[in-house]
Amino acid sequence: MRVLVTGGFGFIGSNFVRLLLRERPDWSVVNVDLCTYAGNPANLEDLAGDPRHVFVRGDVASAEDVRGVLEAPVDAIVHFAAESHVDRSILSAEPFVRTNVLGTMVLLDAARERSGGCRFVHVSTDEVYGSLAPGAPAFTETAALAPTSPYAASKAAADHLALAYARTYGLDVVVTRCCNNYGPFQFPEKLVPLMVTNAIEGRELPVYGDGSQVRDWIHVEDHCFGVLAALERGRAGEIYNFGGRAERANLDIVRRIVALVGASPTLVTHVTDRPAHDRRYAVDPGKAEAALGWRPSRGFEDGLAETVRWYVDHEPWWRAVKDGSYRAFYHAWYEERTA
Ligand code: TYD
Repeated sequence: MRVLVTGGFGFIGSNFVRLLLRERPDWSVVNVDLCTYAGNPANLEDLAGDPRHVFVRGDVASAEDVRGVLEAPVDAIVHFAAESHVDRSILSAEPFVRTNVLGTMVLLDAARERSGGCRFVHVSTDEVYGSLAPGAPAFTETAALAPTSPYAASKAAADHLALAYARTYGLDVVVTRCCNNYGPFQFPEKLVPLMVTNAIEGRELPVYGDGSQVRDWIHVEDHCFGVLAALERGRAGEIYNFGGRAERANLDIVRRIVALVGASPTLVTHVTDRPAHDRRYAVDPGKAEAALGWRPSRGFEDGLAETVRWYVDHEPWWRAVKDGSYRAFYHAWYEERTA
């Protein structure tokens, strides 16, 4: 199997590429990534020189780039490339519509143009369902989409397109919707790595509002195993929710991180709430468990402790990301490979 992975230098994408090459020794990956701020080649530095990982710099929203990448045939496309940070989408929706909506359409068209098509796994998010009331049952795959942020709206639009291509053209599309991920190589703008690295640095830990908002958490490797299961065993035209059965309030997570790092609780600072901040996300993973034989394997407390240790042990990685010097690493890395 030769798999095209989009966004393979991002947080979840890089974890997926590593897991795929480890779990499927006779498979190879073509990784198309635009290397925007979140796509960092250092995330796959350990694969340098591995002939089963081929990187092509490209923009999924450019039909020309995608056509070029697909000149060599692939057996499947796993589409991670996306703008994913809610706060950035509130500042400007444009890159979200371009990459998440237009980029998905370009890739779907490219998959359709291939004779016989090819399996297309569209990696999405539980945020497309919108906010869940406290005590309400977790969202299943049949729930109506009600996104509240420009980010979530762009992913919902992309999900609709992917499913419409399955219906209209018979494209072999599977959509996955996962809850909040944590783990190694996450960009430190997201809750867990931001709080861990700020705590290590003795900086303030900015909790939006009262911190009572609830998210369902999953270790990134468990999510990646789910995507692999969807790729291999998912049914065309179906949606699979990946939930972690680990709902936690933000403030509880921040307090746990403070304790794990051994930082001062006085660093916790309540700041102005995010506009339209969703109160709760939770998805029911029952369908994925029954149909794909998938189940998350890591408990949240152990997984979080392990993740905190990873950031403690990989300080050069996140310091370079936080101070921006990782961009220089990218330029040197890219020039060396394109010389
Ligand atoms: P985030 O990691 O941005 O993921 P999402 O918004 O997609 O769920 O945020 C997770 C939760 O943490 C969310 O409720 C917002 C909150 N949060 C803070 O309280 N402070 C922060 O600095 C960040 C980044 C997030």
